[in-house]
Amino acid sequence: MTLKWWQKAVFYQIYPRSFADGNADGIGDFRGMTEKLDYLKDLGVDAIWLSPHFPSPNWDCGYDISDYCDVAPEYGSLDDFKNFLHEAHSRDMRVILDLVLNHTSDQHPWFLESKSSRDNPKADWYVWVDSPPNNWQSCFDGEAWTYAPERKQYYYHYFMRQQPDLNWHNPQVIGAMWAAVRFWLDLGVDGYRLDAIGTIFEDPQLTSHDVPLDLAGLRHLSDLAKTPEEKETVGKYWHEMFKHQWGQPGVHDLMKQLRAILDEYPGERVLVGEDDNPEYMGDGANELNMVFNFPLMRTDNPLMPAWIRQNQKERLAALAKISAEAWPCNTFGNHDSSRVYSHYADGTHDAERARLALAIMLTLKGTPFLYNGEEIGMTDYPVSDPNRMRDTMATWYYQRLVDDLKVEPIEAARRAASSSRDRVRTPMQWSNSANAGFSPSSVETWLPVNPNYSEGINVRDQHADPLSLWHFYKRMLRMRKTTPALIEGDYKPVHEKADDYLAFLRRTPQQAVLVVLSFSQQRQVLSFSSLPYKTAHTIFSSAGRSKADENLKEIHLGAFEIFIAEVH
Ligand code: GLC
Repeated sequence: MTLKWWQKAVFYQIYPRSFADGNADGIGDFRGMTEKLDYLKDLGVDAIWLSPHFPSPNWDCGYDISDYCDVAPEYGSLDDFKNFLHEAHSRDMRVILDLVLNHTSDQHPWFLESKSSRDNPKADWYVWVDSPPNNWQSCFDGEAWTYAPERKQYYYHYFMRQQPDLNWHNPQVIGAMWAAVRFWLDLGVDGYRLDAIGTIFEDPQLTSHDVPLDLAGLRHLSDLAKTPEEKETVGKYWHEMFKHQWGQPGVHDLMKQLRAILDEYPGERVLVGEDDNPEYMGDGANELNMVFNFPLMRTDNPLMPAWIRQNQKERLAALAKISAEAWPCNTFGNHDSSRVYSHYADGTHDAERARLALAIMLTLKGTPFLYNGEEIGMTDYPVSDPNRMRDTMATWYYQRLVDDLKVEPIEAARRAASSSRDRVRTPMQWSNSANAGFSPSSVETWLPVNPNYSEGINVRDQHADPLSLWHFYKRMLRMRKTTPALIEGDYKPVHEKADDYLAFLRRTPQQAVLVVLSFSQQRQVLSFSSLPYKTAHTIFSSAGRSKADENLKEIHLGAFEIFIAEVH
């Protein structure tokens, strides 16, 4: 089988604002990112996904773009970007960008023109109505329809009011966006991660939702839901509230157009969708190359073998329906969701569970996406001082709780902070010096630095400690690269009833690898004698077992051991 580069690669998401501050202003930038390319190469990263680096008023931390063909001044210049791309490529690392199609910033010249009158050339580039036709909500800030006095009309926004939705029924919009897509492809970028594609079209009937709450009320109810029944109601309400505003049919056609553009370029450019629906891969060759397996990460409980097994069963079956070659794409964290280390912690074996999470990521079938900082075990850091919150989704909710729902300010801040995305976007912790070495001590960083950098959660200290999580990441990434079956092989679960460990085979015609991951603090003695193999040659063991061959009839598995072996 000849795989494409993106099927073999391990991706690493950089959140530009928080990764590396090259000019000491408290904000990450291209100079900083370029200086860290050797760091990423050394870690074992093959490809980088950059969250938006475009000019933006930052109502949604860069996901509100005011110019699709430039670089935000705080991150540097277009030349800095070109230099970054060149330096990445010269280290044999690929770079994909974030493509936000659904909306622009309300400061984008397209919107400024569109809202200026009802008959300007871009009057029809956004979604305008005379008065709100329904009770739709924005998933970030309440009412989905906002009044523009210039036109005496309302525009639609699925996200913040500063992120008006484009009218994708207008061919001029499509043309303008595809031109921007080509701009970066011409510069040599290797593809795109597609933002929020499900929200591009809305129900043409404009049907109202029938949830007896608005957004603030629903978030409030979500916070208070404790029992499984309450949580189920809340889940149903979320679905019902937004079901008319996403998942509409037109997206497939757009994805086909986009794919055709990428396929014109040499070098196998890639598209990965921020959506878990495999149908956006079209027939397997005419829409997106990959969509994220988000269901895998959506568990409130610590990750458990049964959960992962079930996910793989469903996921691989869903992909197989698309085509025999449809390729999986797994992740445990990104700039919107709880950090891996915090999310899957159980309070007693957090470090072991973080290692297990990586082992799962790197041994399941599919392309893994890691999120910056997870390699040193960065944790969620709730920012509860309203003056320092930067996620406007959180500040909006805080204000609604205090003003409308009469929640005490301290409690409101705690609740807003606990779901705010600021908690996973704090600056990268590079060393055990002030500001975690992200910026000089005299500088106020854009979000506060998590003080736990002084407890060993920083790159420099972990470099110096061969037993650190960072070294574990590096070892595992290296091991994956040199074990073809972990990249190309099929996935075959074994011992499917086991509660305390997850075991599966990854097989190519040339190599069979057995992966056994212990989720237990007890030692276990396992027999794999029903498999058509006798011996296991250790490739990787987190318990430091010797490289001698093991007898498959009797494998002694240590507590939380990660055991990976080539079987014969
Ligand atoms: C995606 C991004 C998120 C952003 C939203 C609107 O979900 O991941 O950060 O706020 O789209 O662009």
